[in-house]
Amino acid sequence: MVTGGAQGIGAAIAERLAAEGATVAIGDLKQDQAAEVADRIGGSAGELDVTSVDSVSAFVAEHGPFEILVNNAGTDEFGFFTQTTPEQWERVMAVNLGGVFACTHAVLPAMQEAGYGRIVSIASEAGRVGSKGSAVYSAAKGAVIAFMKVIARENARYSITANSIAPGPIETPLLMQATEFGEMGKKLIQTMRDSTQMKRLGTPEEVAAATAFLASDDASFVTGETLGVSGGLGMI
Ligand SMILES: NC(=O)c1ccc[n+]([C@@H]2O[C@H](COP(=O)([O-])OP(=O)(O)OC[C@H]3O[C@@H](n4cnc5c(N)ncnc54)[C@H](O)[C@@H]3O)[C@@H](O)[C@H]2O)c1
Repeated sequence: MVTGGAQGIGAAIAERLAAEGATVAIGDLKQDQAAEVADRIGGSAGELDVTSVDSVSAFVAEHGPFEILVNNAGTDEFGFFTQTTPEQWERVMAVNLGGVFACTHAVLPAMQEAGYGRIVSIASEAGRVGSKGSAVYSAAKGAVIAFMKVIARENARYSITANSIAPGPIETPLLMQATEFGEMGKKLIQTMRDSTQMKRLGTPEEVAAATAFLASDDASFVTGETLGVSGGLGMI
């Protein structure tokens, strides 16, 4: 199950997992785009709003049970914190954190019963170092990283692993929407690019490769970790 797989990083993850032999179910708000990706990779797609527990349950009931969950759906609303509203905080938290709760909660019982599972959450380096213009998003992603550690602790006994990926700036529609905010947005992207050691944006495929590793049997003794895919942006 790949959430937010209609475009960007999620679509690349769906493609990579399918290439590795998985049967992938893509859930997204953008049904038509999700269906196009699913057709391309021989998977399935369905309507999914990760902020709705009912929508998540219906998706899992129709497409599940799952061996692998990739919590990828995410969103951000750029702006300095003093210029944001409580409604924005709610929206950003609901998708980036609430969505991870809802999907993880929905798939875990079947994984526990099967005695096998891989949960990979696409967090962000913003959740480790904090990203200017993305205060609530950074808070949500930091919470996702902590949440995955607890899921890892609680579910190791079922051979279920739970890990996070912390991408740096990756060239996708989400990042590029910052350019809609004029000069400030462009400067933000430039600053992010410069804050990587490699001085470039990453690609969705680079995040997909790390996800495929954490979702594979090769990562059977890796749990509770956060893997940076950020050209060195987040190294301590
Ligand atoms: N692009 C980056 O630089 C970057 C960096 C770090 C982390 N990330 C994270 O990677 C993930 C994917 O980001 P992306 O850049 O590919 O974004 P994107 O905006 O290109 O794609 C996100 C997808 O999630 C879907 N989505 C949004 N809200 C949803 C909801 N409520 N229910 C179901 N689907 C929903 C969208 O429709 C879209 O298809 C996100 O969690 C994002 O926070 C991205």
